Amino acid sequence: MPITVRPAQEHEVEAIAALVNHFAARNLMLPRSEAAIRHTLADWLVAVDEAQRDRVVGCGSLVPLTETLVEIRSLAIHEEYQGQGIGAQLVNRLIALAREREYEQICALTLQEKFFLRLGFQLVDRWSISPKVWQACIYCPKFHRCDEVAVLMDLVQPRAPAKEPPQRLPAWNNLLKWGEWQPLRLAYQQKSGESREQEQEVRRG
Ligand SMILES: CC(C)(COP(=O)(O)OP(=O)(O)OC[C@H]1O[C@@H](n2cnc3c(N)ncnc32)[C@H](O)[C@@H]1OP(=O)(O)O)[C@@H](O)C(=O)NCCC(=O)NCCS
Repeated sequence: MPITVRPAQEHEVEAIAALVNHFAARNLMLPRSEAAIRHTLADWLVAVDEAQRDRVVGCGSLVPLTETLVEIRSLAIHEEYQGQGIGAQLVNRLIALAREREYEQICALTLQEKFFLRLGFQLVDRWSISPKVWQACIYCPKFHRCDEVAVLMDLVQPRAPAKEPPQRLPAWNNLLKWGEWQPLRLAYQQKSGESREQEQEVRRG
């Protein structure tokens, strides 16, 4: 079966909604309306079966959570097509899209943690990611008995701690030492110097 993964097209909205809502009815993901899919169409990829006149057999979307974090949502492969590497292809293309869009991390909330771990994600504490991850959860029928786990992948190399260059003090720093710099002390030295001179003048006089 020649399968192609590509950006979703307007005429595929209905098929995408049917696929997502099929799994949503089994409590495997949140439902998505056709209107919501159409509104975010640029964030959706589909897997189509070319031998079946581009039938939509898989889909997945990116949902921005913060400026740097994006979530994979509504990842679904039609049952007849599961176990053939199409889910992995879709996730890898969604990761590539997230990189193109310059996100730093990509995450998913899932019951299929092993599937995501095989693809290089790491299991993380669900509360450690942005609280925005859970924004949609209030609409979920499983809100109070959630069994999903959070998985996360870094898309950029963690920044190496900046090496402090050896501090070179400016030349003027050698001219005045701290003890000498204190204005009160300078004033006192000046004052006592003056009064010593006056004293000597009186003696001489
Ligand atoms: C989970 C799902 C997306 C996986 O898609 P898929 O096309 O069947 O998976 P793939 O064939 O690409 O599998 C890729 C690898 O993950 C493994 N894998 C797939 N599903 C797995 C699972 N549930 N548990 C453990 N490993 C799994 C495969 O064995 C394969 O491993 P390999 O590379 O060593 O051969 C698909 O089964 C699905 O749509 N399920 C129902 C909806 C759902 O739960 N979506 C996830 C919401 S986040």
